[in-house]
Amino acid sequence: MKKTAKAYANIAFIKYWGKTNEELRLPSTSSVSMNLDKCFTLTTVEFAQKYYKDSFELIGGKVTEKEIEKVSGHLSRIRKIAKSTQFAKVVSQNSFPKDGGVASSASGFAALTVAAANALDLDLSEKELSILARLGSGSACRSIPDGFVEWCEGKTSEESFARSLYSPSYWDLRDILVIVSTQAKKIASTLGHHLGKQSIFYEKRVSQAKKLFLEAKKAFLKKDFPLLGEIMEKDCLAMHSVMMTGSPPLFYWLPKTVEIIQKIYQWREEGIPVYFTIDAGPNVHLICEGKDEKRFLEKVNKIKEIKNIIINKPARGAYLINEHLF
Ligand code: PMV
Repeated sequence: MKKTAKAYANIAFIKYWGKTNEELRLPSTSSVSMNLDKCFTLTTVEFAQKYYKDSFELIGGKVTEKEIEKVSGHLSRIRKIAKSTQFAKVVSQNSFPKDGGVASSASGFAALTVAAANALDLDLSEKELSILARLGSGSACRSIPDGFVEWCEGKTSEESFARSLYSPSYWDLRDILVIVSTQAKKIASTLGHHLGKQSIFYEKRVSQAKKLFLEAKKAFLKKDFPLLGEIMEKDCLAMHSVMMTGSPPLFYWLPKTVEIIQKIYQWREEGIPVYFTIDAGPNVHLICEGKDEKRFLEKVNKIKEIKNIIINKPARGAYLINEHLF
């Protein structure tokens, strides 16, 4: 059967960096995120007797042998549950350029999970889909539920899944993603999570993130934007400190990244409530409330030598659509 799913990337306010179980991708901290409406992946999966091996194609981009292997490995997890022996053809399309500075693994593995599970006629719950997506790429589990999402660390695979805290309409937040470089990262995050464990700050960051996770949930409950902003910057800087002091160190920032951080501090002094967070790359996610978007964008547009700006609103979780890619 052929099925197509759409899934959105997500930005974490409290981040996942480091695992307690590498193979099961159990995170050392719980995380909180928002799905991003302009950054999504469409994936069509067809299982059939006519295919003698799994294939994976990305419309408008190249895929490596390693990526095909990862996709095939994920299909095998789903085949095992469905007790199927059929191979599949997988075709994906991102709304944003691959290696264009936006991580596609979260939306990619979330869409692949939903499309493949349904193509094999599995009737899985959101929790089960989230657990499966996590096994493909940790942060992908947060792209399964709607809107604002928490992923509780859990001690076992069954306990480690994401669930929606609030629907997309709960809080009119913006993620203004400023792309300063479109270079692909040299070290995949799967390895990066491991390298950070050598950092002298690793345990400290883990214990701080556990506290900040609870604080972030309070900020959401009260819709206290300055509180959420302070928390997200604190965790982002702690995570990057771990990255920079791991072995070998992962230094993701570029001069432009720092220039934008400095500007954000300055804009806050001028009275614009805007905060930043940064994933495993040099691009900066500027988070503000919808009511401040316009006056803030005027400032952002003045920054020189930016590659691209993507303005994201909160989005729903992964779902099936009727139009197929092949
Ligand atoms: O899911 P991964 O292995 O691509 O790791 C995601 C890591 C960060 O984006 C840096 C943080 C996060 O929680 O999304």
